[in-house]
Amino acid sequence: MKILFLDQSGKPGGAELCLIDIAKPYRDSCLVGLFVDGAFRQLLEQNQIPVEVLATEAIKVRKESSFTQSLSSVTALLPLIAKVVQKARQYDLIYANTQKALVVGALASFLSRRPLVYHLHDILSTDHFSPTNLKVAVTLANRFASLVIANSKASQAAFLEAGGRSDIIDVVYNGFDPQVYQIDRTNVSQLKTQLELEGKFVVGHFSRLSPWKGQHILIEALTHCQKNVTAIFVGDALFGEQDYVRQLHKQVTELVLEDRVKFLGFRSDIPQLMGVCDLVAHTSTAPEPFGRVIVEAMLCGKPIVAAQSGGAIELIEPGINGFLVPPGKPDLLAEVINTCYDRPEYTIAIAKSACEIATQRFHQTNIDRQIADLLSRTFT
Ligand code: UDP
Ligand code: GLC
Repeated sequence: MKILFLDQSGKPGGAELCLIDIAKPYRDSCLVGLFVDGAFRQLLEQNQIPVEVLATEAIKVRKESSFTQSLSSVTALLPLIAKVVQKARQYDLIYANTQKALVVGALASFLSRRPLVYHLHDILSTDHFSPTNLKVAVTLANRFASLVIANSKASQAAFLEAGGRSDIIDVVYNGFDPQVYQIDRTNVSQLKTQLELEGKFVVGHFSRLSPWKGQHILIEALTHCQKNVTAIFVGDALFGEQDYVRQLHKQVTELVLEDRVKFLGFRSDIPQLMGVCDLVAHTSTAPEPFGRVIVEAMLCGKPIVAAQSGGAIELIEPGINGFLVPPGKPDLLAEVINTCYDRPEYTIAIAKSACEIATQRFHQTNIDRQIADLLSRTFT
């Protein structure tokens, strides 16, 4: 099957990392079309996945755009749509991986008469989108997509709630290659020394810096924990959230936590960095659509505590393969951190069973098969 994948981003967010894995089995006969250049293109190339930057101008529509703004952005999209139509004629189907890719993909699907798949990585609710953009996404998906793949039951439920068609949507979780997360202990201890974390109880937070990812909740939680509990924040502000970054640094200074908080920026050595952690914390204050970092922590054999909302509820069974806390509650997060600190054997046993479960449940081979089955069921 020849697939034209479309993604609006040049940056490697979770949806883009997921797309790399989805495109791999089709690398001999697919193309990933991007709407902007960036590090994501290089990652695709490193994975031998054909990629082309299709847009010549940046697309300005934002998640919170109003109707008139969205309309004028569609006009600005016309040259890109024309290019996608021309490309699409060489492929069997168009696979839109993001919201703006859906807008372009829907019109290109109509004009090139190629079927459309929409991979829904978002919870379509007003927590994340303007009412206009919500309506546009659901209307286009209902009208043009033959198949919508939701990254969790939570994303599927929000789609249906927003008026999405139930006969076109299926859930497929993100897939992972467990071997990538098997970490060499020597490297980990070297990294721990390099980062000056020896003797500390390390809580890791792995996410782009953004208000709804809730880094501030973990910082606040530290004030309720023992002095040698230290947090590392791995990730950068990918979408211009510089005010939030300043706010986080200010919070650290005000709470006198400079010795207990490290911001490491965007990193490519996630498994190794998870290796230095005693616990991984996920603290999103709005429902997380899926939450790749939750599964990655499990595969690294690290205990995970996550905000009890969205996809996280599907991934974690409390006390069996991790811990859940109500979102936005630093004191309750601190209680879990303290339990993990006080009861390492109990926590390690949970992490071990989480690793076994996740290795089966999210194995890339199983996920590839689910996608291939859905595509062949829908298109042959
Ligand atoms: N990640 C990364 N480097 C960083 C921070 C995060 O490679 O510095 C990866 C992380 O391992 C995960 C992805 O980015 O695979 C984030 O995906 P997630 O689903 O957790 O959240 P998103 O940012 O997509 O909402
Ligand atoms: C999006 C979501 C995230 C999910 C990822 C992969 O970036 O925000 O929760 O894990 O897509 O599906």
